[in-house]
Amino acid sequence: MNVQTPLPQHSADATTVEEGLAIQEAQAVLDSVSATEVAMRNTLLTPRFYTTDFDELDAINVEGVRDEWDPLIGEMVSDPNKGHFKKNEDWDHVDWDGMDPDLRKEFIDFLISSCTAEFSGCVLYKEMKRRGANKEITQLFQLMARDEARHAGFINDALREAGVAVNLGFLTQKKKYTYFRPKFIYYATYLSEKIGYARYITIFRHLQANPEHRFHPIFKWFEEWCNDEFRHGEAFALLMKTDPKLTQGINVYWIKFFLTAVYATMYVRDHQRPAFHKALGVDPDWYAHEVFTKTSKLSEQIFPITLDIEHPRWQPSLERLHKANVQIAEGKEQGGIGGKLKELGGSAKAALAFASLLTIPANKHRVPETTRLQPAY
Ligand SMILES: [Fe+2]
Ligand SMILES: [Fe+2]
Repeated sequence: MNVQTPLPQHSADATTVEEGLAIQEAQAVLDSVSATEVAMRNTLLTPRFYTTDFDELDAINVEGVRDEWDPLIGEMVSDPNKGHFKKNEDWDHVDWDGMDPDLRKEFIDFLISSCTAEFSGCVLYKEMKRRGANKEITQLFQLMARDEARHAGFINDALREAGVAVNLGFLTQKKKYTYFRPKFIYYATYLSEKIGYARYITIFRHLQANPEHRFHPIFKWFEEWCNDEFRHGEAFALLMKTDPKLTQGINVYWIKFFLTAVYATMYVRDHQRPAFHKALGVDPDWYAHEVFTKTSKLSEQIFPITLDIEHPRWQPSLERLHKANVQIAEGKEQGGIGGKLKELGGSAKAALAFASLLTIPANKHRVPETTRLQPAY
């Protein structure tokens, strides 16, 4: 007898990315226009969608890292988080109407931006899986796309309770794709996975110690969540390890550029959400420093440099960058010639602040023989 397996009801139970996305698609009728519009935005600070040279990625040979590769893939195949990303009895009621309006606005913005970032990973990984012929590489990307589809789906579940949701199918078709060479994809994606881990685990541990600040149940899911991101980061570290040139010579400057850009973007973006951080009981400056420290420690597994975040110029330059960004936003809001001038002035200040960060001498160290790490925070 040939019985067709019915589609699981929830993206958390989906075993492949295709299944996860089909479930999302079926729910898309409920999705709201404004949230999708926010997710469609492309600025320096909003999550983007990427495309790359998939043939080059497909040509990677993992034989050189086989000893570390197989256990990682084995762990991902065993799928420890299957079924995890769905609401259960731990999901407390959320009083969206009673929420402070500033917090509500910033929190929704945070969820939309996180959902877009998760989905951006999903789209890139799924495309690689579709285009590739290399068994090892396509398997890895299929597994990572599966996870990201679940993550994005779960955030969308939370958003739906607030009456908003991101139309993921629409985004796939309509959002602009930015082309990055494979090596830039490695640096950017590796860092976004590891900083994602550091961000989620820092919030999770903070709320474990201070549960009175847990104003939304989604934070309870962050521990297992960040373990997925941790594994994704491990995979990119191994991909980079297959070609030592990627972390040597001129490429060290690129690594420094990406580290600086990723850290600075996080700092500026988080400082746009004061009510959100206040509700969490987190000082955004402390949080940034904590996340940078963890990410730097982790990235020593593959990068020969880390940023000197204790340098006297580091924090003041970040603050200047944040202020410049506020000025740009005010200029845009104001409009007209006055607004344009304000915006241009802000952009010039931002460029100077970024240059100041970029020219801080980096800390150098030897990269360990063995790359693989376990989540330890
Ligand atoms: Fe994710
Ligand atoms: Fe990830």
